[in-house]
Formats: sequence, structure tokens, C-alpha cells
Amino acid sequence: MQITPLTGGLGAEVQGADIRQEADFAPLFEAFKTHSVLVIRGQAEVTPEDHIAFARRFGPINVNRFFKPVDGHPEIATVLKEKDQRAAVGEGWHTDHSYDEAPAMGSLLRAIEVPPYGGDTLFVSMSQAYDSLSPKMQKILEGLSAWHSSRHVFGMAAQDSEAVRSGRLSNAEAATQDVLHPVVIKHPFSGRKSLFVNPVFTTRIDGLSAAESEALLQMLYQHCQQPELQARVRWQAGDITLWDNRATWHKAINDYHGFRRYMHRITVEGCPLEGVSA
Ligand code: SIN
Repeated sequence: MQITPLTGGLGAEVQGADIRQEADFAPLFEAFKTHSVLVIRGQAEVTPEDHIAFARRFGPINVNRFFKPVDGHPEIATVLKEKDQRAAVGEGWHTDHSYDEAPAMGSLLRAIEVPPYGGDTLFVSMSQAYDSLSPKMQKILEGLSAWHSSRHVFGMAAQDSEAVRSGRLSNAEAATQDVLHPVVIKHPFSGRKSLFVNPVFTTRIDGLSAAESEALLQMLYQHCQQPELQARVRWQAGDITLWDNRATWHKAINDYHGFRRYMHRITVEGCPLEGVSA
């Protein structure tokens, strides 16, 4: 197995692994803890059952409430854009399931059909984002918590979107989650400090006025979007990319209109997040 870093601080490409082999799990899990994003090439033979079995090695599966499930496999969410559709799912910078009390540990996305160009996924390292703030800003943020919600993204207010009309997202009545998480978390694997707010699901910093919260969040979002903090995954059919939701943001690049992109995603349960005392 060859593991090659994608950038100076985030992500690695894996060649020569087979996710069906029990013996490959330990080195893959170590690499995952080190790099937070792994692109495992060459898994074209993998079935939905193999994908589920691999995900279960990381922990119990967290069944997504809103994405269309794969027929016969409720544990797998469909991530699809047909050639005549304009909107992709996951176009905004986000962290999967940050609206849950125990946000998902990670997501494992399997590429079944990819466009001839484009359709990449971008990632940001949220621990590097924290590390590159000034010590005074780090201290301010360590004392704060922020609200995250599913309501405005998956609830009734979002029912007029193409993703809902096309059946890719549904179950609006289940979008009832509102949760408070620390703005700076202690990463559950490493203890490393990591920013935990994101533009899609974070609604407000607790205890600040709306204007103060908006100004602080926008400053952080600008900061996190620096190219130096990013890694880019260029997909090949048969790849499985997994990412740690407590250490990263991600975003699907929607630049392949006229072509189909079809993925299967499984999310794995996480744990409640611990903050850093101010
Ligand atoms: C997602 O947001 O989970 C999907 C990302 C992608 O389709 O690249």
C-alpha cells in the first residue's frame, strides 16, 4: 500500500489497498487519523455490501434522514446529479451532520460514475485553520459556542429547491435539529484544536448579537477558504474518499453541467464534541 500526501497539511492518496481486506483496515485507519482525508484509488470491484462492511469497521452507521437511500440499502445515501440537472448536492462549504448532538465521525463517498472533467471535491483543514489564527483570536473563540441547525437546509423553507423537486432530498418534517457545539473543539482522535463552524449549518454564535455573530462567522469563513488550507480530490470511477467531519469542511464543485455524476455515501456515527476551556 502506498500512501502519498495530497498537500502539506491535509489529505493523502492511497494506492494498492483493498477495502475488503481486513488486514488493510489498520494502516488505512492510521492514515485516516493522520491525514483526515483519504482518497483510496482502484476500488471498482467493491459492492454496496463491501462499502457498508468497510464503513462498519470505523463504527456504527449513521443513516442520513434527508438523502435518497440506495434501493435495498438504507445505510447508503445517493449523491447524484443527472445530466439535465443544474444543482448538485453539497455545493456549499459544510461539515456533514454538524446539526446533530453527536456529529458524524466521518463520511465514505464511493464514485460510481464521474463526469469526463470537473466534479471534484474540495476540503479544508479545520485544525490548520485554527492554528493559523492569531493567538488572541484563538483565545476569544475558545470561549464561544455556536448553534447549528438542519431546519433552513432540509426543512420546509428549502422545499422549492431542485434537489427536493427531483427527489434527491426529502423528509423535511425530520429537519428539527438545533444544537450548540463549541466553536473550537478538541479533536476526538488527536486532541488537536480544530474550528467547528461551517457556512451551511451554523446559524449563530451563542450570546452575541446577530450583527456580532455574523461579522465573526464571516471573518472565519473567509479565513478558512485560503487555498493554503485546502486539498482537492479529482475523482476516478471506483475511488472511495473518506473524510473526518470533525477536522474538515468539504464542498462539491458543480462545474460539469450536461454530465452525470453518481456516488454512494455512508456516514459513520461520531460522539459529542468537547470544547477547549478558555
Ligand atoms: C457531500 O457533500 O457529502 C458530497 C460531496 C461530493 O459530492 O463531492
